[in-house]
Formats: sequence, C-alpha cells, structure tokens
Amino acid sequence: MNAVDLINKTKKSVPLTDNEIKWLVDSYTAGEVPDYQMSAWLMAVCFNGLTEEETLALTYAMRDSGNILHLDIPMTADKHSTGGVGDKTSLIIGPTAAACGVCMAKMSGRGLGHTGGTIDKLESISGFRTDLSVQEFQDILRKTGFSVISQSDSLCPADKKIYALRNATGTVNSIPLICASIMSKKLATNADVLLLDVKYGSGAFMKSRSDAEKLAAIMEKIGKAAGKKCRAVVTDMDIPLGKNIGNALEIEEAINILCGNDRGRLYDICIDLTADILELAGKGIRSECLDMAENAISSGAALDVFRKTIEMQGGNPAVCDDISLLPHSRFSFRVKAASDMEISGFDTEELGMVSLLLGAGRIEKDDRIDMSAGIVMNASPGDLVMA
Ligand code: URA
Repeated sequence: MNAVDLINKTKKSVPLTDNEIKWLVDSYTAGEVPDYQMSAWLMAVCFNGLTEEETLALTYAMRDSGNILHLDIPMTADKHSTGGVGDKTSLIIGPTAAACGVCMAKMSGRGLGHTGGTIDKLESISGFRTDLSVQEFQDILRKTGFSVISQSDSLCPADKKIYALRNATGTVNSIPLICASIMSKKLATNADVLLLDVKYGSGAFMKSRSDAEKLAAIMEKIGKAAGKKCRAVVTDMDIPLGKNIGNALEIEEAINILCGNDRGRLYDICIDLTADILELAGKGIRSECLDMAENAISSGAALDVFRKTIEMQGGNPAVCDDISLLPHSRFSFRVKAASDMEISGFDTEELGMVSLLLGAGRIEKDDRIDMSAGIVMNASPGDLVMA
C-alpha cells in the first residue's frame, strides 16, 4: 500500500477498505506517512466526505492506535462538544455531574480552528496537567469524581497527531473527521454513558442544523453500537456561549457559574446538559435531575469537586476562590459602537478568529498560546449600546 494511491482514491470518491484506512492511520501515527501526505488525504476527505463504513473504520483505527481504558470504577460518564466559540460547558458540567454522584472521566483536546479546547483552558491554571497516567486518572476519579485527560502516546495517539495537523491545514470542518476524532476518544476512555453536544451556527463547525443532525446521528449510532448509553443533542452556537472567549477568561467565567454568581443562558444550558447525563446514568426522572444539578451548584458541591480536581491535577486550587490568580492580560482595548444602536447578532466565527489572532489559539502546530488573551462581550443581541 502507499499513501498516494489512497489519496487518489479518496480524491475520486472511491471508498477505501478497512485495511487501507487502518494502514494509513497506523503509518501516519508511526511517522512513516509524512504530514504533507496525510494533509492531502484529509483535504480530499473535506471535499468528498467518507462513506459511513469508512467513517466507522477511521474511528476504530484511531481508537486502536492506543489503549482502550478499562477503569476499575463501576460506572463512568463522558461528555463532548463538537466545538464552539466560548464553549466552556465541560468545565461546568463535569464537576456538577460529579457532585451529583456520576463519575466524569473525560478525554479532551486542544483548541481547534476558531474554537477553544478544554485542555488549553485548563492549562491556563498554573501547574494544571492533563498528561496523566491511567493510574493517576483513575485515582483522581475515585477521589473527586471528575478528571480530564489528554490524548497521549498511549491513548488515541492518532487523534493527537491528526487533530494538530487538521488545525494547521484548514481540514477541521468535515463530518467524518469530526466524528472519528470525537468517537475514537470516547471509545478509548470507554465510559458507559456518553453525552454528545453537537453545535451548529456561526460559532460552530457545522453551520446548518441539518449538518449538525447528520453528525449527531452518526456519532450516536457509533456510541450505541459500542454498547454505550449514548445521547447526542443538537444545540445553537450562533452567539458565543457566555461572555468570555479565551483560555483564562473562560476558566474565570466557569468558576463564576460554579460559585452560583451567574445565572444566564450559559448556566441554563449547563444545567440542562448535566440533567441529560444524570438521566442517562439512571439518577432519576428529568425534573429530579434538573433539581440535583441546580442543588450541586447552589450548595457549592460542584465548585468543591472542581477545586479538588485542580489540586490533584497539579494546579493551584486557590483560583476557585481568587480569580485574580489566573493569568490576566497587561493590555486591553475597549471596542465601542460607532453609533447608538441595538445589537442584532454577532459574527461568532469572526469573534473566535479575533480571539485566536490575539494569541488565544494556534495558527501553526507548535505555536505557544497566550493564556490571558481573549475577548469579554459586555453586550448581547437585543441590548441597546451607546456610541
Ligand atoms: N472536538 C474534537 O475532539 N474533534 C473534532 O474534530 C472537533 C471537536
């Protein structure tokens, strides 16, 4: 087999066999297929798509590039969003569901395209590590009920490499590539309960609701076929989620929500998605799950989980009580309206791109992130603003 033949087949929409896809993934992960050939194949996938069988084969090949976890914990859950601007829901839902008694074993990624990543956000907390060994991951889960691990040389190494390559080659927004990236990680952590939050709209990779529904359907099918209690929900990402965009800024906002200080749209979405996880995990009927999630925040139990997880993952837990300990930018610039007006909406993708260019994301694979960079949205659609 050789990479050029496989690139040409996908370029002509000739389906690859399971073996061909496995060969490509394994050879790229081992460094035998170079970045430029893998990039060309990824671009062919972006233009021509993959069949459902190929998408499944890609998901399994990426999952099998590393180990599959068999944690010594009776039941675990995982939640993944397909990505959106200002989407810090995992940072709120993880500790909240854990405080309700569901063990949240989460594998996340870094920033992708115009969207941020949970790993980068958490690393804005000084000392926070996600390159955990399986033993560390399991110990943290047992003690706090919530832990976040990144892809590594032993866990989904194929996604680790392909993810970074897609980010630097404009090959992110493709239904089969997003599906395989997310589901390979979810099947590798092997949680019993999976909640998949598929975003659509200006700030998401899927611009239309119908594309988001296609992605949701195939991910849910793969999750259920693997025997998971799996639900995919489709949610609106036309405006940023919450006020803050950028790594440390998003940790700050997540802490404010976990403190119970902020009850806006972001809070409501997080309560709703936490209730989905609790329901799937058999914690009660919907109304009971909604109450449990709200109580976990108002009682301070969710913040307590987050504080303990930060400490066990090497970070400074004092950030939960004093957000001034997070990185803060030395420079700020206030953007004012050109004239008095009502805000009708945002170009949310553009806001994500501006945040990336300010330093909150990567343009090249090995770029360093400025953890303090980002945007604070002081107004929302419907607000009147003065010049
Ligand atoms: N999240 C992922 O982990 N992968 C994608 O491709 C998109 C969002």
